[in-house]
Amino acid sequence: MNGAKANKTMSDSSLGAALPASWYSSRGIYELESRAIFSRQWLTVTHELRLAAPGAYAKFTITGYRFFIIRARNGDLNAFLKMCQHRAFPVVLQDEGTASLTCLVPESLSNRQSWSYGLNGKLAKVPNFDKVGDFDKSQYGVFRVHVKVDVKGFAWVNLDGALVPAIKWENSLPVSTSNSG
Ligand code: FES
Repeated sequence: MNGAKANKTMSDSSLGAALPASWYSSRGIYELESRAIFSRQWLTVTHELRLAAPGAYAKFTITGYRFFIIRARNGDLNAFLKMCQHRAFPVVLQDEGTASLTCLVPESLSNRQSWSYGLNGKLAKVPNFDKVGDFDKSQYGVFRVHVKVDVKGFAWVNLDGALVPAIKWENSLPVSTSNSG
């Protein structure tokens, strides 16, 4: 195709309107799409076979959210944000592996206190907080991320912070569904 012909094709009004070229590299558009689309949709991230045994986990970062999926003792897959609520230190470090969930406070912190969590994300052990009268452990688990497993074993997450995601998992799937979590 010569240049003149190519220009004619590109300006042909029958092609309809296109998005502005700048949108494809705009940081602002990326962040808008992250918030408005990818933080609300159900996204498939891994397969459950990867997380066979209790404690097996895999870590992910999507649209700036860092989270992991972990196999619980009862066989469910759970997903949580990677940071503790106490001082936002990580509860898992490697990209994947097997872990019990303990906050990884740097040794350099003089008053370091590692909180421990169950594989269900609930706060289990809180050193030195036994005497804090109104401390309610049930309020300080790791933040849960919505996760579902479909009939083919693929794990889906939804980063919507609401208790119930605005977009139903069942409405997002190309295949029939099974419930795990
Ligand atoms: S700093 Fe993470 S639980 Fe205390």
